[in-house]
Amino acid sequence: MGAGIAEVAAKAGYEVILRSRHDSSANGMVAALEKALAKQVEKGKLDEAESAAVISRVTATAVLGDLADCDLVIESVVEDLEVKKHLFRELDHYCRPDAILATNTSTLPVVEMAVEAGHPERVCGIHFFNPAPAMGLVEIVRPLLAADETIASAREFAQQCGKDAVVVEDRAGFVVNALLFPYLNNAVRMLESGIASREDIDAAMRGGCNFPMGPFALLDLVGLDTSVAILDALYDEFREPNYAPAPLLRRMVSAGRLGRKSGFGFYDYRK
Ligand SMILES: NC(=O)c1ccc[n+]([C@@H]2O[C@H](COP(=O)([O-])OP(=O)(O)OC[C@H]3O[C@@H](n4cnc5c(N)ncnc54)[C@H](O)[C@@H]3O)[C@@H](O)[C@H]2O)c1
Repeated sequence: MGAGIAEVAAKAGYEVILRSRHDSSANGMVAALEKALAKQVEKGKLDEAESAAVISRVTATAVLGDLADCDLVIESVVEDLEVKKHLFRELDHYCRPDAILATNTSTLPVVEMAVEAGHPERVCGIHFFNPAPAMGLVEIVRPLLAADETIASAREFAQQCGKDAVVVEDRAGFVVNALLFPYLNNAVRMLESGIASREDIDAAMRGGCNFPMGPFALLDLVGLDTSVAILDALYDEFREPNYAPAPLLRRMVSAGRLGRKSGFGFYDYRK
């Protein structure tokens, strides 16, 4: 997600610093961006000069202190509240007091990250969808302590990036995932109960509802570990049975079948 958000922001004309924990992964993300842009040039969606301009706006680093002058920082690390809280404490140390610190979390309580920062009024959620360059929506999440200007700036940023922005309150799953994940989870339960194969369930939802992809293809795209983390957060918040992750999902995560990112999930991507 981080690399996709960097692509979106750089295309919108922003100077972007892509920070990863290791130089190799930071440089790897820039290399992947170069490859993605080259493909777009090949397909005629972007010209060479635009592609070069986008690349020139992106710098890679492993040093958190390099974010000291940023106006806006969007974290997109693993969906784990403790990891994110720790990162917000670090960002608070390195970033300007007037910088907006945002999280791309899909479900976690943004206010818990905000209170780790010295200026919680400058913290909000800026939730992109996967893949960020292709998806038109951004949810702007307003935690209890956010200032109106923070939300207005975040919305303006999303719009500058060419996205439709909706402002939502800080509740697990916000709008999209609170509605989407019970459906995805129920598809896994349906598979467990043997009603139909994963291919047929996917085909049924594509053909019957005109969805661009079925639930198993979508779960593989999101990542099964991220999906379990999202369902856990929804279940923790609302205690509704529909949010409790289907057992098969957890077993697949334990087995390392995480979806596209590991090459194998409900479908096999290793060929
Ligand atoms: N996958 C999706 O469809 C999707 C969509 C929207 C938002 N998100 C959100 O984006 C964020 C990242 O999700 P993703 O799917 O890209 O996950 P991912 O597992 O693909 O990537 C997570 C990144 O976090 C890094 N990381 C892991 N542990 C860390 C630590 N202790 N400190 C710092 N970095 C660490 C990993 O190296 C990796 O680069 C999550 O908050 C997720 O909810 C995901």
